[in-house]
Amino acid sequence: MCGIFGITGTVTDAADNVFVGLKNLEYRGYDSWGVALRSHEGIEITKQVGKISDGELATSLAHEAVGHSRWATHGGVTLENSHPHRVGNVVVVHNGIFENYLEYKTKLEDTIEFKSETDSEVIAALIYLELQKGVSPEEALTTAVQNIEGRFAILVMFDDTPGIWAVRRGSPLILGRGDEQTFIASDIPAFLEKTNVVNYLDDNQMAYLYNTDVDFWDLHTGEKITKRNIEVEWDFESADKGEHPHFMIKEILEQKETIARAINQERDQVDEFIKALKKAGGIYIIGCGTAHKAAMATEYFFAQIAGKKVNVVAASEMDAFKTFVRANTAIVCISQSGETADIMEVVEYAESVDATVLSITNVASSSLARASKVALPVKVGPEKAVASTKATTGQMTIGFLLAHAYADTFNKGLGILLGAAANINDMINPRYEEHIESVAQEFKDNENLFIIGRGSLYPMALEAAIKIQEVSYIHAQGFAAGELKHGPIALIEKGTPCIVLGDDQETISNAIELKSRGAVIIGISTGEHEVFDHWLRVPDAEMAQPLVSVIPIQILAYHFALLRGHDPDMPRNLAKSVTVK
Ligand code: F6R
Repeated sequence: MCGIFGITGTVTDAADNVFVGLKNLEYRGYDSWGVALRSHEGIEITKQVGKISDGELATSLAHEAVGHSRWATHGGVTLENSHPHRVGNVVVVHNGIFENYLEYKTKLEDTIEFKSETDSEVIAALIYLELQKGVSPEEALTTAVQNIEGRFAILVMFDDTPGIWAVRRGSPLILGRGDEQTFIASDIPAFLEKTNVVNYLDDNQMAYLYNTDVDFWDLHTGEKITKRNIEVEWDFESADKGEHPHFMIKEILEQKETIARAINQERDQVDEFIKALKKAGGIYIIGCGTAHKAAMATEYFFAQIAGKKVNVVAASEMDAFKTFVRANTAIVCISQSGETADIMEVVEYAESVDATVLSITNVASSSLARASKVALPVKVGPEKAVASTKATTGQMTIGFLLAHAYADTFNKGLGILLGAAANINDMINPRYEEHIESVAQEFKDNENLFIIGRGSLYPMALEAAIKIQEVSYIHAQGFAAGELKHGPIALIEKGTPCIVLGDDQETISNAIELKSRGAVIIGISTGEHEVFDHWLRVPDAEMAQPLVSVIPIQILAYHFALLRGHDPDMPRNLAKSVTVK
C-alpha cells in the first residue's frame, strides 16, 4: 500500500514525470499525494489531500523528484499526514509500516517538533539525527533503518546532497533504466512508458541514484553490489483504460482472452511444479482475500480431479499452522501482485525452514515470483482495478491445470479449459451485460444480499460476496448452500435477494427453502429453473465451472457500484496491493 516513485536524470522534467507516473501507482492508495522536487532554492514540496488523478502540479523544472500516493495507516487523511515528510534537511517518502515508531517518537519528542501523526516522519527524524553526527548520507541511512521493525521501502532526498537514496526491506522497489533518466518505484507501471529495463532492489539493499548512475549496497555487509539489467515484457498499452470508463469493466471484459493466456503455460515449468508437489510431505495453498478464494477452488479441483487433499489457509492465519511447515512441505502461494505482506511473511518463514515455495502470480517480476522455486505466471496483464477479476479467473485456470497435471490428465484439463475460454468469449457480450445491469437496477437499493454455492461453487459464493461488498458497499455474504439452514436462513425476509450458484438438485432444494421464506432468487447456472426469479445463464464448463460462474457476479458488482454512485476502480478504504500486515 502507498506508491512511491523517484526520478533522477540529465533532463529537467523529473517532477512532471513523477506526477504522471505516480498516477499509475494510484491503485496502491488514493487518500492523498505529494511530490518533492529539487530546485535551485532547495527541495520544494507540494501535497494535496485526495486522488492524484484529481490533482494538479504546477510545472517546475527539476532533475530530481520523489512522489507518494498514500493509503493512510498511521494518522488520518490530512495534509499534515501526507508525504513527503521533511525533518531538517531530510525529505522522505515511505511505503510500509514502522511498527515500533511510537517508542522512538516518544523518545524524540523533546528534540524534534513532529508535525504529523505518521510513522514515516519518525524515519525522517532518525535519519536527520544520524546526519547531525557528521556521518555520510549512506551511513546515516544504514544506521537509522536498523531501528525500524516492519516491512518498508523509502526514498530519501537531502537538501545538501544531490541524488535520491532508496532502501528496501519487505516492500517492493524496482529501478527503471532510461537513457536520460533513472526511475525507482513501488511498481513498474510508474515508468513503463519510459523504459522496460529494470533492476530489482532486494531486501536490505540500498541504492543511490544520481543523474543516470546508480550505486547499490548490501545493508548488512556495507559492500557495493552489482545488478543485472532485466527486460520486462509488459507493454504500456495494456496498463491503460483504453476506451473503457473504468479499469474494472475493462479487466472483466478482457476475460474473453485472458483465460486462454493463462492456459498457455510452459510444460516443463508445470512438470517441475508437480514434481515438487508430489515430493512434498504436506501441501499448503495460501492466499489473501480473493486469491484465497481461488486457492479454495483449487482445493476442490485437487480433491475432485486428482483425489489429493491439500490444505488451504488464508495467509494471515498461517501462524497457527507454522509448526507443520518443514523442509519437506510445499507452500503454494496464490497472489495477483506477488507483494502481499501476509504472504511474504509466510514465504520468509518457509525459506527459514527450507520448505519449497511455489507460486501462481500475475506479476512475474514480483518479490513472490523471485522467491519461488517455480513461479507460474498468470499472464493476464496488469490488473489495475482494486477488485480482482481477470487475475482471479487466471489463478483458478492454473489451479485447474495443476490438478489435472497432478492426476496425469493434463491434456484433458487443457481441453476443458479451452472449451471454457471459448464459451466465455461468447458469453460476454453487450446484451449479456445489459441483462445483468437490469438485475442490478432492481436490487441496487437493498442493503443485504446473500449468495449460496455448493462444492467448488462454494468458494465462488464467498468470492461473490467480496466482489459485491468491496465496490458497492452492499452487505453481501456467501454461504455453503447446505449451511444456510443451520442458522443464516434466519436472516431471510420478504424480498431479500439471494444469488444461487448452480442448478444441481440439492442447491435447487436450498433455493426453494429460501424462496419459501420470501427470498428473491437470482440463479446463475447452465440451466433455467422455475425457482429462479432472474436467471443469468452461464455455459457448462464441467469441473471448471467456478471460472465461468464468477464472471456474471463481477459484472453485477460493477453495475451495483455505478448505480449506487461509487467509483468501482477505487473503493473506499481499500488499496490494490496490501503490503502491510
Ligand atoms: C479483492 C482483492 C483482494 C486481493 C487480496 C490479495 O477483489 O483483490 O482481496 O485478492 O488483497 O492480493 P494479491 O492477490 O495481490 O495477493
